[in-house]
Amino acid sequence: MPAELICFDERCRAPFPITDVIYNCPRCGGLLEVSYPPPPSPPAELKQIWRARRASNAPLDQSGVWRYREIIPFLDTLEPVVTLREGNTPLLPAPRAAQYAGLDALAFKHQGFNPTGSFKDNGMTCGAAQARRLGMSRVACVSTGNTSASMAAYASAGGLQPLVFIPHGNISYGKLAQALEYGAKTLQVDANFDQILALVRALAESLGIYLLNSINPFRIEGQKTIIVEMLDQRDWNPPDWIVLPGGNLGNTSAFGKALRELHALGFITRMPRLAVIQAEGAAPFYELMRAPAEGFHAVGHPETLATAIKIGDPVSWPKALREVACSGGVVEKVTEQEIADAKAVIGQCGIGCEPASAATLAGIRKLTAAGAINPSADVVAVLTGNLLKDPDYIYRYHTGQLEAPGGAPIRSHFGNQPVVVPNDAARIAEALRDT
Ligand code: F0G
Repeated sequence: MPAELICFDERCRAPFPITDVIYNCPRCGGLLEVSYPPPPSPPAELKQIWRARRASNAPLDQSGVWRYREIIPFLDTLEPVVTLREGNTPLLPAPRAAQYAGLDALAFKHQGFNPTGSFKDNGMTCGAAQARRLGMSRVACVSTGNTSASMAAYASAGGLQPLVFIPHGNISYGKLAQALEYGAKTLQVDANFDQILALVRALAESLGIYLLNSINPFRIEGQKTIIVEMLDQRDWNPPDWIVLPGGNLGNTSAFGKALRELHALGFITRMPRLAVIQAEGAAPFYELMRAPAEGFHAVGHPETLATAIKIGDPVSWPKALREVACSGGVVEKVTEQEIADAKAVIGQCGIGCEPASAATLAGIRKLTAAGAINPSADVVAVLTGNLLKDPDYIYRYHTGQLEAPGGAPIRSHFGNQPVVVPNDAARIAEALRDT
């Protein structure tokens, strides 16, 4: 049985050919996922093959996604693959952040070390490969910034025309700059992320463009390798918790699918628990988990300075719900102040990240204080984007100018003001005396 697309909804599970250009189940409208037969080799053998590939100079072996190709075998041949050597991101111990969060130890899996500076590259290499396999010439995405940066890069590298739709005035300049530089036709729409996504989904078919939002199941396959690589780096010893920020919830879906598959295939014998952290002003998934009986309700006007996760109607919530439940996980929400301070602490570790990523540390601190995470637990937090994605936010925080949506000031508890000095050796020595 070859790879196929399957409706994710348990009541439907309708199968479709892997080459159908569909984003939802044509029968019931449910989300789609990729399904495979088990890999040809047993886990112990694959673990050795994957480790050995790290020493190879072959482009696909050097990719931290395609090195693990036996776990994402949706292509007939690897010829359509476009790689910028994505993945290969470090697992960094962070004692200062652990202490802040009330933990004995904490490690960050830093996806900001990717070629375009975010975890989106892990998924985009797969989405772009599928687009090329299907013979598409134009690809599109709606984005809070990182998806557009990543898609623009992979499309241009692979000879596809990238079309980017972004909420006007609501993404950081770092990310917009990337889309422009990588050659995307960029449309700034006067609407929020959720409204634009609905618009573009309706337009995709009539315009003959291939959608590379995280509703695209091939993107999810690529993002699974974040977990595979992290487990490989830990010699296949699963942590107790994996903590990640939640926006459109594609990553939560990918992590859960990876863990379930690896567990079922025998790569790991224990499932880590997922903790998904949302920003307080954009937390519909948190609300769903808090009161499941009330059902899912989109947030009409999401608000957060962590613009990457400023999403009120996450398309992948049904998948994320299954994955969080399956892993015995939790969902938490954090304030703008908590995100800003956690971000500064991650900076003080010499690591740094963009605002959405820092929701992880803020969430862990809250969950540890509430007793949901044990102080001695083995915790990995996934930092999703690079510090340089949003320098404006950083400057404002450290200079005491950062304001939450609505205008409330954010206090710079870990502020680090730059000091203006004259061109005068004595005065400079004076300014450095207490340092
Ligand atoms: N962190 C960062 C840095 C992101 O860019 C995103 C999503 C998330 C977390 C949330 O991930 O959507 O899988 O739950 N950014 C998307 C974009 C929406 O358009 O770049 P998710």
